[in-house]
Amino acid sequence: MNRIIVGFMGTGKTSVSKVLGRMTGLPCYDVDNWIEKKAGKSIPAIFAEEGEAGFRKRESEALKALLAQDGCILSGGGGIVLREENVAMMKERGIVFCLTASPETIYRRVGKDENRPNLDGYRSPKGIRELMERREEAYQRATDVRIDTDGKSVEEVAAEILRVSGKAGNHE
Ligand code: S3P
Repeated sequence: MNRIIVGFMGTGKTSVSKVLGRMTGLPCYDVDNWIEKKAGKSIPAIFAEEGEAGFRKRESEALKALLAQDGCILSGGGGIVLREENVAMMKERGIVFCLTASPETIYRRVGKDENRPNLDGYRSPKGIRELMERREEAYQRATDVRIDTDGKSVEEVAAEILRVSGKAGNHE
């Protein structure tokens, strides 16, 4: 069983999965990180040179490669739920946790971060709410367990994931 963490940009997916990795000793992978390493370029560079379609293709390939393993903690990018094939793979290979936060919290955390090209044009709490609402259905379809992160520490969110999914790794 893999634990897969999804959610909108700035909900803390990468930080939570790192802490979970430390708490459990399980291998921990970040899909965006994997994509950047394989491509030898940053996500903004991939978007600029290959467009979002190029990035999404790389994202599905990375997810497939990583999910060939078992007993891992995986964090995906905010748009990983947008492709039906990704959702199917994630549901088949693990428990999908979706982290949420208010548009205000997300704006405070990542609103000015230029490494998130898909926030361009939405860099206000109102804009973030709009993009979130547009993606809501996709998150719902992908999610097994939803966890609100507002007002919680990374450790609290990680502990909640462990409470729900148990502490075991490979042999379930
Ligand atoms: C994206 C989110 C990013 C990254 C890419 C696209 C999105 O990941 O995958 O910039 O479309 O929501 P984070 O959620 O880690 O920022």
